[in-house]
Amino acid sequence: MARIVTPTPQSIEEAARILRDGGLVAIPTETVYGLAADARNGTAVAKVFKVKGRPSFNPLIVHVNSVQEASRIAGLSDKERIIAQNFWPGPLTMILKRRSDSGLSDLVTAGLDTVAVRVPTHKTARDLIKACGFPIAAPSANISGSLSPTTPAHVAKSLGDKIDLILADGACKVGLESTVLDCSGEHPLILRPGGISAEEIARILGEEVSYDLGATDTPKSPGQLLKHYAPECAVRLNAIDLEEGEALLAFGSIKFMGMKGGGAASSLPDTMIRNLSESGDLYEAASNLFAMLRDLDKPEHKRIAVMAVPEKGIGIAINDRLKRAASG
Ligand code: TXA
Ligand code: MG
Repeated sequence: MARIVTPTPQSIEEAARILRDGGLVAIPTETVYGLAADARNGTAVAKVFKVKGRPSFNPLIVHVNSVQEASRIAGLSDKERIIAQNFWPGPLTMILKRRSDSGLSDLVTAGLDTVAVRVPTHKTARDLIKACGFPIAAPSANISGSLSPTTPAHVAKSLGDKIDLILADGACKVGLESTVLDCSGEHPLILRPGGISAEEIARILGEEVSYDLGATDTPKSPGQLLKHYAPECAVRLNAIDLEEGEALLAFGSIKFMGMKGGGAASSLPDTMIRNLSESGDLYEAASNLFAMLRDLDKPEHKRIAVMAVPEKGIGIAINDRLKRAASG
């Protein structure tokens, strides 16, 4: 079992040493917990793919601490620089042109000539990147295809016996993975909706930002091919009432929600109801999403019925994860 330690200067130094020696450490970020490895070390990166059961065609995100560090591994156009300066550090990943002298393992980028780069805001992640002095590859710290972890307990449960150390720093604030943005075309394209919305990016750039969520056979982002974020339980979306045996993932008030056979949803036992946000706050809902899906993911539940979440701002990212969960 991995040791679970809270972040201190000593434990961060230890985590950096493990990474330098080719080991794996689970780390907190503002989005979800990541499974970190030295992005230059092919053997360490191969271990990340193995431990996650991740297909090797699906490249990893490389984490650095500044635009300047990003530009050592990738070329940034003027537009990409503007976006980086506005949203880094933060929950935004940019698909950039990989530099030939980047020093990154080819496994990290799955042989592509682009690299996904992100600068996290989370203090522990930043302290660790600084202590390492090299870029850190980190996909979400879960078995490929399952829900991303937003607490150290989630990480311990799925990967605890396969990694060296878990840096435990509470629940992740954003709770959803970063937005993946590709600026190589005429207009910026969001390949994965996440912590930063299209509106926020469009406002800064003064131009349209659209979505390409990979409905085709040749997606721009390999991760779009995969069924993702799937709990064990079946998931039913846009529920307006509840069927016998279903657990409820609510959004907003459930005062008027009924059961098909008669009765009120609010009379379900506590173990069968979670509310993403009683006040209808989308940011609160995002931060609760994965943990609450896990809470309700029990064999005794026939299904998880989910109330509609508005398709705007970070709600687009929430609905993207919910749709994938329902199709898994
Ligand atoms: O919030 C996050 O982004 C978290 C934390 C740990 O930083 N990381 C994360 O990584 O979600 P991962 O590996 O679970 O998701 C990376 C996504 C995948 O969908 C992958 O296909 C896409 O980014 N990606 C990586 N490199 C790419 C590239 N060169 N071109 C297109 N898509 C890429
Ligand atoms: Mg992932």
